[in-house]
Amino acid sequence: MKKLGKIVMTGKPMPEADAWIRERCEVVSWDELGVMPRPLLLEWLADADGLMSVGGQPVKVDAELLAHAPKLRVIAQSSVGYDNVDVAACTASGVPFGNTPGVLTEATADLTYLLVLSAARRLKESVAIVQEGRWTPTSPIPLGVDLFGKTLGMVGLGQIGSAVARRAMASGMNVIYHNRHRRSPQEENGAVYVGFAELLAQADFIVVLVPLNEDSRGLFGAAEFAKMKKTAFFINAARGAIVKTEELYAAVREGVIAGCALDVTDPEPIPADHPLLQLPNVFVTPHIGSATLETRNRMAMLAAENLILGLEKKPLKTCVNADINYR
Ligand code: DGY
Repeated sequence: MKKLGKIVMTGKPMPEADAWIRERCEVVSWDELGVMPRPLLLEWLADADGLMSVGGQPVKVDAELLAHAPKLRVIAQSSVGYDNVDVAACTASGVPFGNTPGVLTEATADLTYLLVLSAARRLKESVAIVQEGRWTPTSPIPLGVDLFGKTLGMVGLGQIGSAVARRAMASGMNVIYHNRHRRSPQEENGAVYVGFAELLAQADFIVVLVPLNEDSRGLFGAAEFAKMKKTAFFINAARGAIVKTEELYAAVREGVIAGCALDVTDPEPIPADHPLLQLPNVFVTPHIGSATLETRNRMAMLAAENLILGLEKKPLKTCVNADINYR
């Protein structure tokens, strides 16, 4: 097969997508552990036609990177979030940028709901009792709280937020939400729109699923935690920097809120000796929202298709800046 051009891969995609790309492109790839060093990335991009951004910590795409890549025709990234990408700079350079929305919705909603359940049922403390040999016939067990009849407050009712809301309703929860724009009745599907302050005051579980941008950075801090119920749990499955970590730590430690469950942290990865992790009512998973075999395969294949379409100068399947003037 005639190769479509040279592409840079910043990590290892899932095997099927990797093979599919390699059949069609000449590939240089960063196969080491850790984030690809920036100077090497810029060097490799000098004569590259495409960039496939893979890995838990995606590389920063900005005007400097684009200036080092004069031949670049496409950037594809296997994630729905793209806070690492300066989309305006891509548009100004005439480079289409594709992400992978839709295909990870249900898997990410499952993990988010697992965080809700883990917080409610004090899973970390319960597992520790078993693991540490403290489970005896008479040992006291941690008592959790019911979900049935409680209120879930969704901050962000996009595709993933709606899928979490469905799960909560199946548990008999009331769902309220706050979003930049109020959703249509069909999209609300029974969730009730409220103002941000009202959501903070009413919800028993607050779940954050908004993209990280200049409006959402640091959205949750001491002032917001103070407005929540003392019995409320805070759940973040979006991006760590939406929360001021030190202020979350203080709020949980001092009993301002009942606890938190996080799939994302700031810093990320969070060091094992971070004080937040020492609290019994803080449950943390390592950014695994989309991490199932099927979902990661779908994400990698969608990113691969976007990459190839971009190299062929065709519209990407899922393009963030579709109405650009192509290079
Ligand atoms: C996403 O797709 O944005 C997930 O958070 C994985 O990075």
